[in-house]
Amino acid sequence: MRKVVLVTGASSGIGLTLCKRLLAEDDELHLCLACRNVGKAEAVRADLLASHPTAEVTIVQVDVSNLQSVFRASKELRQRFQRLDYVYLNAGIMPNPHLSIRGLFSGLFSRRVMHMFSTAEGMLTQEDKTTADGLQEVFETNVFGHFLLVKRLWV
Ligand SMILES: NC(=O)c1ccc[n+]([C@@H]2O[C@H](COP(=O)([O-])OP(=O)(O)OC[C@H]3O[C@@H](n4cnc5c(N)ncnc54)[C@H](OP(=O)(O)O)[C@@H]3O)[C@@H](O)[C@H]2O)c1
Repeated sequence: MRKVVLVTGASSGIGLTLCKRLLAEDDELHLCLACRNVGKAEAVRADLLASHPTAEVTIVQVDVSNLQSVFRASKELRQRFQRLDYVYLNAGIMPNPHLSIRGLFSGLFSRRVMHMFSTAEGMLTQEDKTTADGLQEVFETNVFGHFLLVKRLWV
């Protein structure tokens, strides 16, 4: 019987590399790509099947930073699969830090100027957005969306 593997964020980066590695180990897997962008997922699916034609590769659309999407996806997964053998909750975001002009100037004329330049503390800032669900985007994407996706698989 084929093992069933779910990978979130399988459309690029580590998720995509993981899918290739899993198929290199076992090309009889059923790999379910849980992706937000179906177009990208279709392209990945075609690429994986071209190199591993004996595998089964399917797609479930999910935006883990959107609760309605997560609820819909977990319901679809429950309907489509009797079981999931492995689940990789990989999808995620990490906003790039950027220079805070205000932080730079307030540090420049303070006693912590050397500390600021040696550690960048107070000089860099990282912006997080609020999602439509009213949650911090990084938290909902990296943690909470995945938590609910998995929890709802059994509801
Ligand atoms: N690379 C590193 O050095 C590193 C270090 C520590 C931790 N990590 C973590 O490892 C994971 C993968 O990193 P990576 O470097 O492979 O990142 P990546 O290349 O940016 O890929 C992230 C994947 O997550 C998907 N994704 C992002 N937001 C999503 C959402 N709301 N719903 C569904 N899918 C979403 C992206 O889909 P789209 O194609 O639709 O954008 C993409 O497939 C992330 O969680 C990251 O925070 C990475």
